[in-house]
Amino acid sequence: MKNNNLDIKIQPSLLACNMGKIQDEINSIDSFVDGIHFDVMDGQFVPNLSFGAPVLEHLSTKTELGFDVHLMCEQPDILLESFAKAGAKAICVHMETCPNIHRTLQVIKSFNILAGVVLNPATSYETAYEAIKFSDYVLIMSVNPGFGGQKFLPETLEKIEKIRKNFPEKIIQIDGGITEKTAPLAIEAGANWLVAGSAIFKAENREEACKKLRK
Ligand code: DX5
Ligand code: ZN
Repeated sequence: MKNNNLDIKIQPSLLACNMGKIQDEINSIDSFVDGIHFDVMDGQFVPNLSFGAPVLEHLSTKTELGFDVHLMCEQPDILLESFAKAGAKAICVHMETCPNIHRTLQVIKSFNILAGVVLNPATSYETAYEAIKFSDYVLIMSVNPGFGGQKFLPETLEKIEKIRKNFPEKIIQIDGGITEKTAPLAIEAGANWLVAGSAIFKAENREEACKKLRK
């Protein structure tokens, strides 16, 4: 294993839960996951809409789990403060949407929460090197963002290997198509935060599904 024994964290993506009863869905996994992945989509950067800060504000006060917010939005800068105030413990922004990403990460850090940089499948590690250096964590997209339930792109593993080699202590999160088959590949490559939507919320036994992802 190349992830230097960094803790493996499983973070279910709410995108795959029953949106009509999000609170109950969180309660159903609360005792055996490590955090909640909150996917924010603006219908511009990605062709889909999800939820905003008022939803997070409601949910974050009802669980001890920390929420990490994944901003798939054209203008993430205008949203940072509201998500931080709504209780986010970590916020990540896409390289592809941030011309001044160093400043954006500075603003996130100013709220005393973790600041992450996200790389789409077609964004190279080399392009993002300086941003990764300044970030608290890096999220490697293993699908093109916008929808849950897509097929894992194995070519993204090489990027994780490169980052792990150069940043032995960095939190590396992976998101998209994580299942009991792809999770071991991601961990072997060096990822230590695993986002999983369908693999957990669509499973018959969510606790068992979660255990299988950690193996
Ligand atoms: C994709 C989102 C992911 C997605 C993962 O745009 O960022 O977090 O919900 O869903 P699964 O695990 O079903 O691929
Ligand atoms: Zn996500």
